[in-house]
Amino acid sequence: MEPLIAAIDQGTSSTRFLVFNAKTAELISHHQVEINQSFPKEGWVEEDPKEIMQSVYECMERTCEKLCQLNIDISNIKAVGVTNQRETTLVWDKVTGEPLYNAIVWLDLRTQSTVERLINKAPGRNKNHLKHKTGLPISTYFSAVKLRWLLDNVDEVQQAVLSERAMFGTVDSWIIWCLTGGRNGGVHCTDVSNASRTMLFNIHTLEWDPELCRYFDVPMEILPKVRSSSEIYGWMVSSVFVYVSCLSQCLGDQSAALVGQMCFKEGQAKNTYGTGCFLLRNTGTKPVVSEHGLLTTVAYKLGKDEPACYALEGSVAIAGAVVRWLKDNMGIVQSSSEIEKLAAAAGTSYGCYFVPAFSGLYAPYWEPSARGIICGLTQFTNRNHLAFAALEAVCFQTREILDAMNQDSGVPLTQLQVDGGMTSNRLLMQLQADILCIPVVRPTMSETSALGAAMAAGAAEGVEVWNLSPDHLPHVSSEKYDPQINSDESEFRFARWKKAVQKAMNWET
Ligand code: G3P
Repeated sequence: MEPLIAAIDQGTSSTRFLVFNAKTAELISHHQVEINQSFPKEGWVEEDPKEIMQSVYECMERTCEKLCQLNIDISNIKAVGVTNQRETTLVWDKVTGEPLYNAIVWLDLRTQSTVERLINKAPGRNKNHLKHKTGLPISTYFSAVKLRWLLDNVDEVQQAVLSERAMFGTVDSWIIWCLTGGRNGGVHCTDVSNASRTMLFNIHTLEWDPELCRYFDVPMEILPKVRSSSEIYGWMVSSVFVYVSCLSQCLGDQSAALVGQMCFKEGQAKNTYGTGCFLLRNTGTKPVVSEHGLLTTVAYKLGKDEPACYALEGSVAIAGAVVRWLKDNMGIVQSSSEIEKLAAAAGTSYGCYFVPAFSGLYAPYWEPSARGIICGLTQFTNRNHLAFAALEAVCFQTREILDAMNQDSGVPLTQLQVDGGMTSNRLLMQLQADILCIPVVRPTMSETSALGAAMAAGAAEGVEVWNLSPDHLPHVSSEKYDPQINSDESEFRFARWKKAVQKAMNWET
């Protein structure tokens, strides 16, 4: 039997465990569990760290059962990689192993006033004041402000810091710590890609930055050790596994998708449609500073002695989440897949524009006070038009970040590689090509983040069953969508969208 590599993909909306053949990249088996989100107050978004771990165990167990049914010996799994929703912030007690508060999800807006205060005190009220070190604007999105909130507002966190029992981490750190033994010697680490999303990490030195930690008043001793994105971190001691396998990598999910799409060369880019939507362009071993509202982020470092690779990133907060909102909050669809049928029945939004600024607007605006709007309604408008407008919103937001990316790099992309759960929606893919006026290319296997995590795990020193050299990369088949409308029509619709965005940003005035 050829060696297998597994990946835990812990996203905002669901957890997955996937097993790949390390020679052919074929997906052998997988299991997925949806994750509950709670919204305790307006703008707050939380998840239960224990439920996250429970979902990881359940996915591993179910997948192993499926492998057994296929007569596949699970001891062929040579390593497990982790890929995760980024920025989501946790603090736990290293002695009891208990989380000290819910995970504060990246979309959460509770730190809006903290962010305003920090921007007000920055020279020239410049939100990019820390960008030279972090690559990021000061925003509710990143972990440092969430951690500051926990330190200010949760007694248990304050006590644990004083008694030297507190551990901070993003979701990757929590999962790795739990799976490698938890309070009985679990490994407390993260990788450079996840660390680069905290605002506490210097993306040039690749270390936690004492000055940034002072700025946010964060005690450095609670931070995890930063490792490369591909090396053995430790050994799994989970009782659900009847064997012991090494945990050999972690990568933020957007970095993992970049790897899974084989975007190793400078200039290559991919766009992933998950809860949010994230367009990353590889800029090689040099960080490039954006002039158009994009982030500079560490994409990956594939081995202890390998150089770090950077990316320019355009982040959109709400993509798949708008469909979940139409399902859970509005009851317009019963399941997420139904949206395609509804939107296809309309075939147009009939002049309706939907800006889902539920968590403010991210790139290229970085406006936390923006709020969602639906405009252009008439008595003719029905739920089908609304479904269409929701899908169009995802495509327009991608157009905005693609335009910013093209302006920053000066070399326009001639086609867009896409992946993620929403890309199974063919109508969305066609709309995207129409709105971008360039072809959209989708791999037929859409679990690209997990594939990237498995590739990095399999390539780690000491595992070495997956070869990342260009000659050995797996061939993954793809499907292409060419634009089918003329650019005048596309520009007209995009111009209307931009007007709607202005209204979402100034809805109070
Ligand atoms: O930065 C947030 C991102 O990592 C979340 O990804 O796939 O859960 O939308 P996803």
